[in-house]
Amino acid sequence: MRIFVTGSNGLLGQTITSIFTRESDFELITSGVEVESSSELGHTYERLDLTNKDEVKKLIGFYEPDVIVNCAAFTDVDKCESERELCWKINVDAVKHLIIASRVNNARIIHYSTDYIFDGKNGPYGEDSKPNPISFYGRSKLASENALLTSGTEYTIIRTMVLFGIGNNIKPNFALWMINKLKNNEPINIVDDQIGNVTISDDLAFGTLKIIELNKKGIYNIAGSDILSRFDFAMKMCEVFGYDKKLVSKIKTSSLNQPAPRPLDSGLITLKAQSELGFKPMDSLEALRLLKIQLGY
Ligand SMILES: NC(=O)c1ccc[n+]([C@@H]2O[C@H](COP(=O)([O-])OP(=O)(O)OC[C@H]3O[C@@H](n4cnc5c(N)ncnc54)[C@H](OP(=O)(O)O)[C@@H]3O)[C@@H](O)[C@H]2O)c1
Repeated sequence: MRIFVTGSNGLLGQTITSIFTRESDFELITSGVEVESSSELGHTYERLDLTNKDEVKKLIGFYEPDVIVNCAAFTDVDKCESERELCWKINVDAVKHLIIASRVNNARIIHYSTDYIFDGKNGPYGEDSKPNPISFYGRSKLASENALLTSGTEYTIIRTMVLFGIGNNIKPNFALWMINKLKNNEPINIVDDQIGNVTISDDLAFGTLKIIELNKKGIYNIAGSDILSRFDFAMKMCEVFGYDKKLVSKIKTSSLNQPAPRPLDSGLITLKAQSELGFKPMDSLEALRLLKIQLGY
């Protein structure tokens, strides 16, 4: 099976590339906006800016993949408030370009979405819960879901949240940011009113692999198995990595004055993925232990 990965230099894109290489016989074509691939695994790499409709059509038409795994996105939630046009181009228009390109050979599209499509008033959320985004990022991701829903193309939407993991030159994620501070004994302020799952990118990649292998369509939540506050996650990190818990102070989200509002009482229910895919996501403690090994600590 030929898989075309977009955004392959991002956190998820790199994890998908390495886990699919290790765990499957898929032929991988990787792509990203950068000139060179971050991966040293030797897959064919194409430079592809998904906002360029003609290029998307040309490359997908050339490779005729069975599945397109779209790991590309504009993921800086606060910047999405001020750079709305760019956010929409990458998070929505690019998905429409993929939909058009996929029609050449009826390729399936796997796309990622987020708990930010919800308002965070009454989480955790199932696949059928009613979206109500409160940020521009959330609106753009919901619009991308709707583009697929109405496209007539075969698709799977995988919703996830608070993704973390390792990779070459990736943007700092929540877990790595905390580690960088705490290992240098720097105090950090962590919100205790944002509740949800945390997700190690390996789990998301494994879940995606199952979805492709089992040919599952529709919407799936794939995230860590426990629901906790960011502060409690920081406490677990201190336990696993041996950092001083006194370095971590509790704060409220409102005190951060971030441009994009956050869904507070959030979380994703992963029962459907667990029962239909036989997928067992790690809990936050297991995921942190794996991260520690991956970092070589
Ligand atoms: N991170 C989270 O906590 C989280 C939570 C829920 C859902 N998700 C979703 O999960 C997916 C993967 O997220 P991630 O954390 O792996 O994101 P990421 O690390 O920010 O990676 C996204 C990748 O997309 C690339 N990209 C941006 N614009 C592009 C364009 N025009 N054409 C091609 N590639 C482009 C980025 O390149 P540059 O870096 O060079 O711009 C980057 O390599 C996204 O759909 C995201 O919305 C993430």
